[in-house]
Amino acid sequence: MTITVKRSARHAARCALILGLGGLLVACAPEPIPSPGASAFQDYCAICHGTRALGDGPVAPDLKVPPPDLTLIASRNGGVFPLRAVADTVYGYSGKHDADLMPEFSPLLDGPDVAVPKSDGSGDEVMPVRLAEVVTYLESLQRE
Ligand code: HEC
Repeated sequence: MTITVKRSARHAARCALILGLGGLLVACAPEPIPSPGASAFQDYCAICHGTRALGDGPVAPDLKVPPPDLTLIASRNGGVFPLRAVADTVYGYSGKHDADLMPEFSPLLDGPDVAVPKSDGSGDEVMPVRLAEVVTYLESLQRE
């Protein structure tokens, strides 16, 4: 209860009423609370891939294979974010990567399945909701 009250008070403080010529607009600063996918990334992935997913986590120098920069996945794939392949890499379906390197992320496999729309509009990929959160967070980090 206390948390709810505090949150809404903070939220109200971050909103500004802007009076324009034509009417009233309510503008709010973006919520600073991280998305579940961003939190999961910091908890499970940042130690190797780095807090900004650039491949520079604290243990990266000690790994046999350097963790790749995860903000360039789309760029390395002709500009398309390979949703299924990324989900499979994290989930461990593909079995491609060395089991010693990328650990299994069983907490990311909990919960119901959801359908995630592919960025090229060619349908959905179905995967566990927590995995979907972290994969779509990665998709949001893609740069040229
Ligand atoms: C113990 C270190 C470590 C952790 C923790 C880790 N990774 Fe990785 N990851 C690697 C390494 C090393 C590679 C490259 C070699 C490989 O594929 O096994 C990699 C590869 C990847 C790839 C493939 C990238 C590409 O370009 O194909 C993805 C996607 C990825 N990791 C996502 C994640 C996510 C998401 C998490 C957290 C849920 C995570 N990793 C946690 C070390 C790690």
